[in-house]
Amino acid sequence: MRKTLPGLIALAAVSTLALTACSSDRTDNTAGATNTNTAAAGSELCIPVGATIGVALPQKTSENWVLAEQLFNDGLTAAGFEPIVQFGNSGVTEQQNQIEAMVEQGAAVIVVGAIDGSQLGTQLEAAKASGATVIAYDRLVKNTEAVDAYIAFDNYQVGVLQGTALLQGLAERKGDGPYNIELIAGSSDDANSIPFFEGAMSILQPKIDDGTLTVVSGQTTFEQVATQGWKAENAQKRMDTVLSGFYSGDTAIDGILSPNDTLARAALVAVAQAGKDTPVITGQDSEVESVKSIVAGEQYSTIYKDTRDLVAQTIASIVALQNCDEIPINDTEQYNNGVKVVPAYLLEPKIVTQANAAEVYANDPTLGPLTAG
Ligand code: GAL
Repeated sequence: MRKTLPGLIALAAVSTLALTACSSDRTDNTAGATNTNTAAAGSELCIPVGATIGVALPQKTSENWVLAEQLFNDGLTAAGFEPIVQFGNSGVTEQQNQIEAMVEQGAAVIVVGAIDGSQLGTQLEAAKASGATVIAYDRLVKNTEAVDAYIAFDNYQVGVLQGTALLQGLAERKGDGPYNIELIAGSSDDANSIPFFEGAMSILQPKIDDGTLTVVSGQTTFEQVATQGWKAENAQKRMDTVLSGFYSGDTAIDGILSPNDTLARAALVAVAQAGKDTPVITGQDSEVESVKSIVAGEQYSTIYKDTRDLVAQTIASIVALQNCDEIPINDTEQYNNGVKVVPAYLLEPKIVTQANAAEVYANDPTLGPLTAG
């Protein structure tokens, strides 16, 4: 049975462990922006029917963000809210201004997919002062108390799955070690990039230490391997340089750790242009082109983080707040944002390879059912 968004919202609203994330009573909010909506007759609501909900998304650096925009607009409208869903296409300043405007328009909840999680403190503190609840979506908001909850796939686990898949793929496709590899990380302004990288290195570092893996370029720190803006051209350019500088002659590149699909495909272009055999390469986001590449036996793995589930969990949290309930939380330890441990609801990411792609995507409206080839 294909999961529908309203069904997912109802499902997600059945919370597991729940902790209070403060939510103001917007029906009698006197601090900051007033809310012109009226509560549904006869029911005690902490957020009125028709309330404005702000959703500040980063940039369309991968397909999951494009899907999130449509799902938030459809799902929030279906739940009886007035959504304002915007991308910060031109960067951090635009996203800061968008959040300020959402506060001025009396948003009862502001959901933030931060371009740079460390540069929104001023805007989110103003949101809190207006009585709004602040939810960090997918990416943690850093260095501010002004965030009530974090809803995401467990992004450290994403890295662990990627590191594990790289080792598995090397054993499957490249015979016995030792293996030559290179590392790619995400954009340094994306709070997820470090948990992705640290999760993967928790698996790979011991194998580097024991000589199973050699990073031929010697570039092993996050700063050395980060890809600004998640831009494919930046990853391809860096791989071009590494390959021409360290992989002359018949030196093989057996594996590449890539944090997402767009960068994986860019790295594969650089490797092909260097005349090298296809390496075992990881990815994330189950993008259409990468799923095809995995089914065809080229890219080795991706990660499935079903955006429908993440959006549904976020909207279910808003519905819970409207009903004066708690935001569902299932982790109160992992995500310290520099000034507080942010209560989180973490969904489980799935590793996908050629072996399980058909099964994983069977119910996905875009990717499934997979046809061979
Ligand atoms: C991350 C997100 C990843 C990927 C990346 C690039 O924040 O968690 O799934 O989309 O952005 O856009």
